[in-house]
Amino acid sequence: MTSDSGSSDSATSDSASSDYTALLDLAVATARETGRMLIDKRPAGGPDVVATKSSATDVVTQMDQAAERLIRERIGAARPGDAFLGEEEGVTSGTTGVRWVVDPIDGTVNYLYDLPDWAVSIAAEVAGRPVAAVVEVPRRGWTFTATLGGGAHLNGERVRCSTDVPLGRALVATGFGYAPERRAAQARVLAGVLPNVRDIRRNGAAAIDLCMVAAGRVDGYYERGVQAWDIAAGRLLVTEAGGRVEGLGGVPAGNELTIAAGADLFGPLHDLLAPLDPARD
Ligand code: IPD
Repeated sequence: MTSDSGSSDSATSDSASSDYTALLDLAVATARETGRMLIDKRPAGGPDVVATKSSATDVVTQMDQAAERLIRERIGAARPGDAFLGEEEGVTSGTTGVRWVVDPIDGTVNYLYDLPDWAVSIAAEVAGRPVAAVVEVPRRGWTFTATLGGGAHLNGERVRCSTDVPLGRALVATGFGYAPERRAAQARVLAGVLPNVRDIRRNGAAAIDLCMVAAGRVDGYYERGVQAWDIAAGRLLVTEAGGRVEGLGGVPAGNELTIAAGADLFGPLHDLLAPLDPARD
């Protein structure tokens, strides 16, 4: 796996594609096919773990790899010159100005345990900016979609972030990394958050957490350690649903810290987190 270097080497011009709907249609068809394949081909006894990453519990299954191969095949056949960043196979450069950022299974541990909250997450970027996104959650029957300027949708119905939720009544999702030292630091931050919000949810898939923010099914989300492929699609969902997705002090969301919430809750959640030093292990 190659890590993301930030913006795409080839995503330099937005002249190549202004047709965000066509990009979305391809993303949705590909995510749905991949989701069906992941259900149909999941071995009865669970998928084989073929590798580990940041720790022994950070697993890659043969199905993560098969899913990314299928996505690359379908998108590559339809748009051969596009760049690609995928969790399993890393970076492929392109020539069109469009880059696909893909997590073939976000929530791999849920998939491993046959829990329903895993997703196929596909975003198309132009000039480094997400313009079309799908988060397909096959076991729930949810297709979350967004295009830049076109709003956020769940199964075709417009969704929006919650509004007018004071911090003390906010339901906040979070996630944890896989390395023990990071988890210890995240537990320390959590201890500072928990007494100040309604409650916490840890559902196990960052892309779905962001969609839950977009749909107002949780009020906010924060996590340290997410990768570009975990958040590329969900980020567009949240911003198109009226929310904000950023790091600390206005820096872009990313590996260091990602905070997402409706526009009015974002500030209070950010200010609760900031003194807890959530971007440090
Ligand atoms: C993970 C999930 C999890 C989050 C981790 C991610 P993966 O992605 O999104 O919820 O807490 O930070 O790495 O490994 O299942 O693709």
